[in-house]
Amino acid sequence: MNTGYEQHLEWVKKRRAELRQKLAKLFPEPADLSLEIGCGHGHWMADFAAAFPEKQCLGVDLIGDRIERAEKKVARAGTSNARFLRGEAFEVLDLMPDHVRLNEVFILFPDPWPKKRHWKNRLFSQKFLSELAKRCRPGVRCYFRTDHDPYFEWAEEVVAEQDLWSREHEFVWPFERETVFQNRAESYQSLVVVKL
Ligand SMILES: C[S@@+](CC[C@H](N)C(=O)[O-])C[C@H]1O[C@@H](n2cnc3c(N)ncnc32)[C@H](O)[C@@H]1O
Repeated sequence: MNTGYEQHLEWVKKRRAELRQKLAKLFPEPADLSLEIGCGHGHWMADFAAAFPEKQCLGVDLIGDRIERAEKKVARAGTSNARFLRGEAFEVLDLMPDHVRLNEVFILFPDPWPKKRHWKNRLFSQKFLSELAKRCRPGVRCYFRTDHDPYFEWAEEVVAEQDLWSREHEFVWPFERETVFQNRAESYQSLVVVKL
């Protein structure tokens, strides 16, 4: 008889296999992607893709109904270079086909996890930058924006403590369009890192 833990492992295995299959189907050929992690309902990525029709864009979020709404949005607009996928950031990075590389990465208003005991859940971390680096050539930029000052300071420290990415103090934000969370924010800060 399967224990609960074994059942959980089976479920994770199945979920990973499905995600690997979806990614392979979405990107059957070599691709350099503009990736947004935690895209929510996809407002930002849908408009970004429409503004840059030459770019192949992917928005990823954990929550399925947000992804469905994002897909409907680009279908209605006839934007053919944007894809959306339900998935967890680390799993998506891990399971992308080897011929997929990232051209630029956007993390806009990620969950701040304000309580100290939850900091381990923050996406922007040493582990994240090192997994991301495996998918990026030198010169690729990762754009991070938050309205939570402690998370911004945390991100600055994360960058200072590793040597795969370098912080750019002077940068041009490539595309301004308010996200849902940006719209609610009184102020925000942006951090840009470039892959070494
Ligand atoms: C605070 S919302 C911001 C949404 C959008 N970027 C905006 O600015 O309006 C954070 C989003 O990140 C997603 N998310 C959180 N952790 C994630 C992860 N590990 N992988 C993928 N998406 C994640 C959540 O489901 C949520 O939609």
